[in-house]
Amino acid sequence: MFPTAQSPQAAKSVRNAGFGGNRGEQRAKLVVVNIVLGITGGIAAYKTPDLVRRLRARGADVQIVMTRSAEEFVTETALQAVSGKPIRSNLWDKEAEASMSHIELARWADVVLIAPATAEIMARLASGAAADLLTTICLATEAPLAIAPAMNHVMWDNQAVQANRQTLADRGVTILGPDYGSQACGETGAGRMLEPEEIAAIVCGPELAATADEGLLAGKTVLVTAGPTREPIDPVRYITNRSSGKMGYAIAGAAASHGAKVILVSGPVSLDEPARVEVIHVKTAEQMYAATHDRIDEVDIFIAAAAVSDYRPARCVEHKIKKNEEQMTIELVRSRDILASVAGGLDGAPFTVGFAAETDRVREYALGKLDDKNLDMIVANRVGDECGFDADHNTVEIFWRDGEQSFPTAAKTELAHQIVELIAERFEATRGAATRPELTIVSLKE
Ligand SMILES: Cc1cc2nc3c(=O)[nH]c(=O)nc-3n(C[C@H](O)[C@H](O)[C@H](O)COP(=O)(O)O)c2cc1C
Repeated sequence: MFPTAQSPQAAKSVRNAGFGGNRGEQRAKLVVVNIVLGITGGIAAYKTPDLVRRLRARGADVQIVMTRSAEEFVTETALQAVSGKPIRSNLWDKEAEASMSHIELARWADVVLIAPATAEIMARLASGAAADLLTTICLATEAPLAIAPAMNHVMWDNQAVQANRQTLADRGVTILGPDYGSQACGETGAGRMLEPEEIAAIVCGPELAATADEGLLAGKTVLVTAGPTREPIDPVRYITNRSSGKMGYAIAGAAASHGAKVILVSGPVSLDEPARVEVIHVKTAEQMYAATHDRIDEVDIFIAAAAVSDYRPARCVEHKIKKNEEQMTIELVRSRDILASVAGGLDGAPFTVGFAAETDRVREYALGKLDDKNLDMIVANRVGDECGFDADHNTVEIFWRDGEQSFPTAAKTELAHQIVELIAERFEATRGAATRPELTIVSLKE
């Protein structure tokens, strides 16, 4: 997530700290970080006192740097009270510069986070401008930079803004969100700042702890499949499904942030590639099968989150099919089952996690799949018009041979961390043990 988190500069001042939660000591060690929080002049700035509280609750030390416009939306007094530090805003403030210069501030930061990030600051960052304190710090720091854009959806869709977003992403800036939803202007669209809790969870999450010898999955190789597959009918048509790839991408990112080497075999999606993840792009189920088996020998944990087409057209017609007939029939054949071929078909198979996306009898089908395919774990979720596919949130239940756990509705990015933590825990428990426990919970009754 944060490409330069392991730079000597970032490593210099990080300190390990325990992290509470229901799995107590088994959870990843987190890091107390120095965060320079840049606040710019968007309406979502009113949420920043809450963001500061949540960052500090996770152990971060927060130094706020406001732009001139941000002062129109949130008071320095409120921010000073919640951050416990004087606010910095003026590059030419002699007193502040004397106590900690902008260069020292840039060095002090383990992370520079800008939330909300306006279209204007994105343009300044993309162009390398340095006329104010915040942009000067951004240029002078070696710490990773994350921005949480927030603006009207038409602004967000503007080509100039999107070009700046791409430039920043290509330079390794982590772009958090934005979310889709109702906006301050009364319209609905993409451009809402992620919620403070979500930003804090990502920025203070295990990402920064994942150095080579730290993190729950340090030293492990994880292969994740994600997204749909496309099965061609003719050169312009294909069979696919509604999978967006968001869950698989979030899991790949979370596994990387827990220290794993991650290979992501991705069907066609329109998502940014997660940082520190090797992505192999494929289109069809057959290509996904081949790409997975190409690399499976080096894998400790295989997480099959892709929605692979169960069937594909028996043949792809060479030329576009014309609408000559009233009816047409397409012959479909079964695709090869990637999950079963790994879990049940390989000597020394990796710890294998399947996904079950069902519209009904979720538990029953998930447990059946766990058993039939000889999986180590299965993540079950209900899909339909309102949930599962192409949504930013998800609700899942996870089953394994002698246990199960439900996860309440949460953002996929946050849920991904919880799922990966549970996978790491179960991996340790079973691969450390001499034998697999008997399957005790399979019941086909609700
Ligand atoms: C009431 C109001 C609300 C605004 N909200 C946003 C916003 O949500 N996102 C944004 O990119 N710009 C917004 N703007 C425009 C920015 O404040 C303006 O581009 C400003 O120059 C940003 O400067 P800064 O990035 O240095 O803070 C808003 C302006 C006004 C007057």
